[in-house]
Amino acid sequence: MATLRRAVTYIPWLVSVISGASLQRIAEPFGYNPTKVGFYIYVPDALVPHPPVLVDPHWCHGDANAAFRGSQFATLADKYGFIVIYPDSPNTADKCWDVSSRETLTHNGGGDSLGIASMVRWTLDKYGGDKGRVFATGVSSGAMMTNVLMGSYPDMFAAGSAFAGVPFGCFAAPGNNSGVYGYWNDACATGKVSHTAEEWKAIVEAAYPGYSGWRPKLQIFHGTADEVLSYNNYNEAVKEWTAVLGLSTTPSSVTEDTPAKGWTKSVYGPDSWFEAYSAAGVPHNIQVQEDTVMKFFDLACKGDGCFKWGKGGLHSKCRRSRN
Ligand SMILES: *[C@@H]1O[C@H](CO)[C@@H](O)[C@H](O)[C@H]1NC(C)=O
Repeated sequence: MATLRRAVTYIPWLVSVISGASLQRIAEPFGYNPTKVGFYIYVPDALVPHPPVLVDPHWCHGDANAAFRGSQFATLADKYGFIVIYPDSPNTADKCWDVSSRETLTHNGGGDSLGIASMVRWTLDKYGGDKGRVFATGVSSGAMMTNVLMGSYPDMFAAGSAFAGVPFGCFAAPGNNSGVYGYWNDACATGKVSHTAEEWKAIVEAAYPGYSGWRPKLQIFHGTADEVLSYNNYNEAVKEWTAVLGLSTTPSSVTEDTPAKGWTKSVYGPDSWFEAYSAAGVPHNIQVQEDTVMKFFDLACKGDGCFKWGKGGLHSKCRRSRN
């Protein structure tokens, strides 16, 4: 099935229905990629100078092509001139991401997250991309990987957006998890993994010992009726990321019916550095909210007035300037 789907990638007329450019597979060496993650990239015909880079990891049983076709981000890339990386899981058993190994949960430690980080570095270099505007978004396993990337590579990402995922480290294989790449953590999936905010903070900080630089901002979305990844993970993620970012666990604002009816948006801290959207009655198959993501990343903005939050204006005292 994976072979069949991958073959579809090479039919130019099919992808050209979506946009002018096409999804390309990068076959050449692009940096250290110990678990052999597949590298697919969408480079629109018209790039802005120093283009931003968005990483969009697929869900379990999905692949790069499914992620490419499954959201509007490629179309939005055409419109706004940014690049999208669609990594492809090397785990042929279920196509879930490695979010369980010691390696992936460690900065430059290996695992799937390092393969993806190598893709980002290669892309920034090849296209003269903006190092200060690298983002990740994904659904389900792709949301788990988004959390992993924010924790293992905080220096690389400006922001993340995760739909129906779990907190960084929640899927870690128990005991010595070195080399345990394809572990399905049932306890986490069913909502039985719970930590204090301080414990979660320690888990994230252990990914990159001694690091005290920039931390990406993050938004999470979770349906209260999620039957695959328990909604308990929403509250655990709130504890985790507010602690890591030094924010109060009491929201600074709560808005009902945003961005959809029955979805409640909670903002933490004074400048939306962490946002959590609780979607009432929504199952695991949650609808990606591209507009909300684009706005959070400031990706629909062109020109000099953009992305002030990421260039050391806000939080410049405690977060490294990304110029
Ligand atoms: C964990 O497992 C790896 C690989 O099997 C091994 O090299 C390492 O020594 C183990 N670490 C501990 C602390 O047991």
